[in-house]
Amino acid sequence: HYMLKEIYEQPKAITNTLEGRLGTDHVVVESFGNGARAIFDQVEHVQIVACGTSYNSGMVARYWFEEIAGVSCDVEIASEFRYRKSVVRPNSLLVTLSQSGETADTLAALRLAKESGYMSSLAICNVPGSSLVRESDLAFMTRAGAEIGVASTKAFTTQLAGLLMLVASVGHCRGHLSAAAEAELVKALQALPLRIKESLALAKDIEALAEEFADKHHSLFLGRGSQYPIAMEGALKLKEISYIHAEGYPAGEMKHGPIALIDERMPVVAIAPHDHVFEKMQGNIQEAKARGGAVIAITTAGDDTLWRLP
Ligand code: BG6
Repeated sequence: HYMLKEIYEQPKAITNTLEGRLGTDHVVVESFGNGARAIFDQVEHVQIVACGTSYNSGMVARYWFEEIAGVSCDVEIASEFRYRKSVVRPNSLLVTLSQSGETADTLAALRLAKESGYMSSLAICNVPGSSLVRESDLAFMTRAGAEIGVASTKAFTTQLAGLLMLVASVGHCRGHLSAAAEAELVKALQALPLRIKESLALAKDIEALAEEFADKHHSLFLGRGSQYPIAMEGALKLKEISYIHAEGYPAGEMKHGPIALIDERMPVVAIAPHDHVFEKMQGNIQEAKARGGAVIAITTAGDDTLWRLP
């Protein structure tokens, strides 16, 4: 079916997203439009607005903006943003994220923002010529190709690639990102299609896990830092596609409620790569196991720390 086909198209889709937009050691700032450099030089705050999966990619970018570019960033669901009064900070850039470029709430949020004092607007979008692209000052096309499946897959990962390029560009223009750090990011971006192919090669193992999952009615997805929105996206996908109730949670909040629900009938999916909060995630995994929860952990290849947890 289309969703599976589109999942397998990700290496090619991301290759297309990067095409012509990376130098040997830097991101080409003009990939975001001719006027982008002048705007990125001045930007002091980024407001991201989106819906659904696009919102989750924006949430990931929030961690990146503040850590990598040193620029404050807020993210809001478009249907909330458009119906409330918000205060616009000086030199704020509005970034809308959308696969289709036609989502009514995101479009309404852009139109509202244009009258509210934002310095500029940028759309990261998959459909050239869409309303969002036409009405924004700057645009970055994700080039994922047509996405027919209802639940977003390659559109999500190409958005993330585009967002990391945006963060690198803003960090560069603001003088916050060192040349060496930018070169590292470029290398990581270039490696993405291969990394995704490696993940897709795990399909047989993942299918075996899915067999165990299929008869459950509830599940919890946990992550910390930029993996927290990835956990939310995992939960959203499961709800939308499998009709299994799923909650995405910041792992540190587990003890403030959801832990009461964990038992052998409730799988816990922990996104736990070897990063600065890995030890904290190990603690959360142990707590879930102590409650009898069946933990499925997604971690860094070659790291067997989680296997050895009591
Ligand atoms: C939803 C789709 O209805 O719209 C999601 O099922 C998508 O997959 C969301 O993320 C927002 O759409 P868009 O086109 O604005 O990214």
